[in-house]
Amino acid sequence: MKPLIAPSLLSADFGHLEKDVQMLNRSQADWIHLDIMDGVFVPNISFGMPVIKAVRQLSEKPLDTHLMIVQPERYIHTFKELGCDLLTVHWEACTHLHRTITQIKEEDMLAGVALNPHTPISGLEDIINEVNLVLIMSVNPGFGGQKFIERSLHRISELREMIERNHSEALIEVDGGVNPDNIAAIVKAGADAVVAGNAVFKSDDPELTIQNLKKLS
Ligand code: DX5
Ligand code: ZN
Repeated sequence: MKPLIAPSLLSADFGHLEKDVQMLNRSQADWIHLDIMDGVFVPNISFGMPVIKAVRQLSEKPLDTHLMIVQPERYIHTFKELGCDLLTVHWEACTHLHRTITQIKEEDMLAGVALNPHTPISGLEDIINEVNLVLIMSVNPGFGGQKFIERSLHRISELREMIERNHSEALIEVDGGVNPDNIAAIVKAGADAVVAGNAVFKSDDPELTIQNLKKLS
């Protein structure tokens, strides 16, 4: 199965965002991945509501929104109003994860949970039948352009086993350091979707790179 490709806008050219979103509209990208960082949960601040609003008006693709923020439950309704289709919160940032996931689904968005590289996969066992997606971070969140942590491959396989054991329909998305050289191994380990930032936007032909990422896997 070909994976869903979700290019991360974090690596786009913010001076020419319209051009980059139009390229994604033309491309074989399945989703647009939006990385929202608050400078507290991660040591970086990215972009917020006005940018998402502008992207929503331009984008023909679903918005896959990755919240790297503390207390994400404060903004669930806001992200729905902004037009996000999929909302992913971090396991480490949610004291009442089950409630937060329920609230996201009640807003008619797909609900995802993201795991930092050190967070045990086993912590998902009691929520795996509730979530639509699990985002495995294959770098420490906060920045684009980092190196893929190899151990993530074992984590993807472990999660795939858990999903099958529980007859869950959750998709596995992998985020961080994905490129044309490692995408085949990531998909083989069990990924349904991959995020790619630098590999797409820093390449000579981003549209072709997206096509190749699909082909190579
Ligand atoms: C990292 C973000 C990623 C990042 C991916 O905190 O969650 O989505 O933008 O970028 P690359 O593909 O360059 O590692
Ligand atoms: Zn991300």
